[in-house]
Amino acid sequence: MKAIQFKEVGGPEVMQLVEVPKPEVRPGMVRVRNHAVGINFADNFFRQGNYVVKPKLPDTPGMEGAGIIDEVGPNVEGFKPGMRVAGIGLKCYAEYSLFHANQLIPLPDFVSFEEGAAFPIQTLTAWFMLHTCHHLTPGQTVLVHSAAGGVGIVAMQLAKAAGCRVIGTVSNDDKIGVARQYGADDVINYEKTDFAEQAMKLTGGKGIDLNLDAVGKPTFEKGLKCAAPFGHIILYGRAGGPPDKLDPMRLFEKAVKVSGFILFTASSNHQLMKQGVDSCFQLMQEGKLKMLVGKTFPLAEAAEAHRFMLSRQSVGKLVLIP
Ligand SMILES: NC(=O)c1ccc[n+]([C@@H]2O[C@H](COP(=O)([O-])OP(=O)(O)OC[C@H]3O[C@@H](n4cnc5c(N)ncnc54)[C@H](OP(=O)(O)O)[C@@H]3O)[C@@H](O)[C@H]2O)c1
Repeated sequence: MKAIQFKEVGGPEVMQLVEVPKPEVRPGMVRVRNHAVGINFADNFFRQGNYVVKPKLPDTPGMEGAGIIDEVGPNVEGFKPGMRVAGIGLKCYAEYSLFHANQLIPLPDFVSFEEGAAFPIQTLTAWFMLHTCHHLTPGQTVLVHSAAGGVGIVAMQLAKAAGCRVIGTVSNDDKIGVARQYGADDVINYEKTDFAEQAMKLTGGKGIDLNLDAVGKPTFEKGLKCAAPFGHIILYGRAGGPPDKLDPMRLFEKAVKVSGFILFTASSNHQLMKQGVDSCFQLMQEGKLKMLVGKTFPLAEAAEAHRFMLSRQSVGKLVLIP
């Protein structure tokens, strides 16, 4: 089968299309013929050797995909060959990949493979942050950084569906329209405007109840400044570099709470995962949640796709087609 592989850590150029054997099915696992593969910002860290999961060289990136089950291993219940599925796994930049059965989601007919590949990581990350890490209530104001990106687009729609006001930030004016289309009541270009000052103005001096921050260094400190009393900041990424060290005494000023989030903590809890999946599919069926696949690339062009993601020009989800 065809797969993307890198033999050394480094920039997008280390990724090459190679021919490798199909992965062998093991107990508890399911092999899927991928029809679409989701690209995540973390794939960039993985390729550089900077992610929580370290590559074992030569390795293949990719943490999610959607396709048709090809073979089911021993000790797996509820899945059979021919089923349409999406899932969270490893080595997904390939024609076939293995998924633990408990990380696999049956895909409803109304969800395409491309939307399915965009679903597991960005949607569940947004849902768990809003409804597990935080408990959104109608009327709260949610600040979504990188609002036009993969997680951002979903987080804004979920926050709107929960009756919240949404303020999005983007780094260029071209993304403003998309952010508005997918739920932002207000959009701030945080390269041009101080987002903390603007957020205070937009909220009449009250501030932000929930701040979803995956940018890090350029945004975290300002996030403390524009937090509402009892506000909550969830740090779930570091696209702009890790934030400076936090003095816990800063939290006293407005009784602010800071949390970290990583999807695997939540997705390894089957009951919680099912709750998130069911809730998001329900919202998709009701037309309140739409996956935005911003651009697709052939599998062979994975390096080009990563360059595009790093250019900060992309909107929505980037998907590879094996
Ligand atoms: N903790 C978790 O479990 C988890 C799960 C999924 C994703 N994440 C994190 O969530 C963020 C979004 O992930 P995604 O896959 O949906 O990606 P994405 O939002 O589609 O793309 C990343 C975005 O980050 C922003 N950005 C800010 N500073 C940047 C920089 N120096 N270089 C490149 N981009 C920069 C860009 O938007 P603007 O320029 O418009 O801000 C860019 O579009 C990432 O930081 C990712 O690591 C975390």
